[in-house]
Amino acid sequence: MKKHPLAKEILFTDKQIQERTIEVAQEIKAFYEKTPNETNNSLLVIGLLKGCIPFYQTFCMNFDYEMEMDFMVISSYLGGTKSNGEPKINLDVNSPIKDRDILIVEDIIESGVTLEYVKKYLLNKGAKSVKILTMLDKPTERKVDIHADWTCFSIEKHFVIGFGLDYQEKLRNLPYVAICDTDKLADWKW
Ligand code: IMP
Ligand code: MG
Repeated sequence: MKKHPLAKEILFTDKQIQERTIEVAQEIKAFYEKTPNETNNSLLVIGLLKGCIPFYQTFCMNFDYEMEMDFMVISSYLGGTKSNGEPKINLDVNSPIKDRDILIVEDIIESGVTLEYVKKYLLNKGAKSVKILTMLDKPTERKVDIHADWTCFSIEKHFVIGFGLDYQEKLRNLPYVAICDTDKLADWKW
């Protein structure tokens, strides 16, 4: 696919993301194999929609471990290029949470507010453990004390698009993560 005109610089191609995800999936498998599972429940892998979709697919197809899939929709970005910092659950998980080991799969952590909220919510519902896997992390932008247990790539303070990441719901389908050319956004014709 040709580089989108709003993509200023491609940071990670789908091949690079896949290669890194395979490594991380192996680390996560090794971690859970060492974790005692007394409850006979399989791992519940919760993707945060919609941004997680391409990464969730890449991860799950390379995760050789017993798991169940579920999803949540949390809104925190009001469609712009800055997080508004007030998460809200728009779609909750259907699966039972109590006593489960849970792995949250997220596209990107910025302030950390979304993940702090979701993690607390799941622990309050009685989850046995809640771990976090994120494709990208912007560690310099953190506003609350939360960290991912597994991160594919850390990046500088950029607004990024593609591989699930959107600008106003668009550009999620780019098969790479790119720095968005934000100067062009103001008078961009979609
Ligand atoms: P946080 O609560 O500030 O950590 O924000 C996390 C959410 O904001 C992510 O799940 C993304 O949906 C969105 N987000 C953060 N940074 C970017 C970005 O650079 N591009 C697109 N979405 C982003
Ligand atoms: Mg998100």
